[in-house]
Amino acid sequence: MITNVCEGTCHTESQHKEFMKGEMSMKILILTGSPHKTGTTAYLADQFMAGAEEAGHEAVRFDLGSLKINPCIGCYHCRDNKGECVFSDDMNAIYPKVLDAEAIVLVSPLYYFGLTAQLKSGIDRFFAINPELKTQKKTVHLISAGSDEDKWAMQGVQENVKCICRYLGWKKGSEVLAFGATTRKDVENSQYEKDAWELGYHLSR
Ligand SMILES: Cc1cc2nc3c(=O)[nH]c(=O)nc-3n(C[C@H](O)[C@H](O)[C@H](O)COP(=O)(O)O)c2cc1C
Repeated sequence: MITNVCEGTCHTESQHKEFMKGEMSMKILILTGSPHKTGTTAYLADQFMAGAEEAGHEAVRFDLGSLKINPCIGCYHCRDNKGECVFSDDMNAIYPKVLDAEAIVLVSPLYYFGLTAQLKSGIDRFFAINPELKTQKKTVHLISAGSDEDKWAMQGVQENVKCICRYLGWKKGSEVLAFGATTRKDVENSQYEKDAWELGYHLSR
């Protein structure tokens, strides 16, 4: 008999594995920002998702580069209208998932030392639901890739995510930062690929 959190209700290793999956399972929202459907960061997102699903987590993914998301125009309509945005676009499907998620994974190639405009546009639109988001507990993880080899190149995205977390009262989670990565081939069969899978697999609250 296998005991710890299952308190002896599991009799085999496989029963215990299934039990643990149910027990530890988290709702994860993956937001990717590259325009390349099968590029560097899409590949790392695939690895992360595979690890997360192997661990029994419930992962939902939106590739913002393939969606219609209007950039926020700062009209403040949402402030006077209970969080309703003037735009009705693909954010409609993302909002409930943002609210539901226990962990959010931001996946973006480095574009001028920051997140891509596609991903940033989606994040800016969180503004409409800020009041509710600030009452929630979430952890944000970052996966990024860029051609540069220098550590400083990633500082912009790292700080951006850190500030978002601080502002919303969320926890800053782990990072997989792929340096010297210009194309998918640079991360295939690399340590970065393993790191992305491990991040998904070992995710915890
Ligand atoms: C417009 C643009 C801006 C970029 N800016 C940077 C940068 O500031 N630093 C960097 O290291 N790489 C930069 N890159 C390289 C990409 O981050 C890199 O090729 C990445 O692997 C692309 O990932 P993807 O295939 O997921 O889109 C830039 C590429 C483009 C097209």
